[in-house]
Amino acid sequence: MKNFIENLPKAELHLHIEGSFEPKLMFEIAKRNNITIPYNSVEEIEEAYKFDCLQDFLDIYYQGAGVLINEQDFYDLTYSYLQKCASQNVRHTEIMFDPQTHTERGISFETVINGISKACDDAEEKLGVTSLLIMSYLRHLSEDDAFKTLKQSIPFKDKITAVGLDSSEKGNPPSKFKNVYEASVNEGYIPVAHAGEEGSADYVWEAIDILGIKRIDHGNNSLQDEKLVEEIVKRDMALTVCPLSNTALQVVDDLKNHPLKKMMDLGLKVTINSDDPAYFGGQVNKNYLEIQKALNLSKEEIYNLAKNSFQYSLLDTTKKQLYLNELEVYYTNNK
Ligand code: HPA
Ligand code: ZN
Repeated sequence: MKNFIENLPKAELHLHIEGSFEPKLMFEIAKRNNITIPYNSVEEIEEAYKFDCLQDFLDIYYQGAGVLINEQDFYDLTYSYLQKCASQNVRHTEIMFDPQTHTERGISFETVINGISKACDDAEEKLGVTSLLIMSYLRHLSEDDAFKTLKQSIPFKDKITAVGLDSSEKGNPPSKFKNVYEASVNEGYIPVAHAGEEGSADYVWEAIDILGIKRIDHGNNSLQDEKLVEEIVKRDMALTVCPLSNTALQVVDDLKNHPLKKMMDLGLKVTINSDDPAYFGGQVNKNYLEIQKALNLSKEEIYNLAKNSFQYSLLDTTKKQLYLNELEVYYTNNK
């Protein structure tokens, strides 16, 4: 099973680039930018990565992102993640980035997007990994602030596929961003959003009805509402589930109690993702491996999860089909 998962062609659909920032690279970049971070070693950093809830994690995550200053920093961060994709047979990835985390500190939108997108272009050419970018609005900030970000993104529209919504969920419902999502869709961005991670099923309803999202990030709490589950199935929307994130942030107490299998049995389209791999103890393959063990998933179930990852990606039909064919061949030869 380990080999089967490691060699399985797959896509990652829920990944925050700032959350892929490994301690070693963080030290390196902090040093070259003459920034002191409040840790003396990689071990000390890892010790600090123990979280009781989403906010606990976000405080440390924003602090870590504070060492990113130059285009090269954003390039190195992104390329380093894409190398991990290549080594895990992640054939395609949809990367979220948080412009406001950087523009709030005086870093220009251009610096951020150019560093990230150049790394994506190089990785496609040198590593054969394709990627799309999801510009995520920070929901603890105002809708006006999100509008500023949308405006800054316009000159770089050709590099960005979708908009997302992340950060502190409770108290910041999707409806707060109704107008900016409408404007983003008018600009051609595809809408997705985090919903139902710590927030209730009502937040998922708002995200699908008010923001018109095409895919739900996390979505665990959708299970609180039978009607909502039916609606998500009816609309054929996928959930980007992140098992190790869920246990790290105490959304789920133990992987053995993770609702993933229940979701699949209810007919929900589920995918497996790492969310913030540097903080939550594992890249995407570890997420597959651990959830497979915890829930005793079959090869067929793992195959279906990978299939969903391509099927519910934001790629065009032709590219999707190429990856699905590759997966089909793999499964036929390895089941
Ligand atoms: N939830 C909300 N915001 C985030 C997350 C998450 O899991 N990761 C990075 N920003
Ligand atoms: Zn996330």
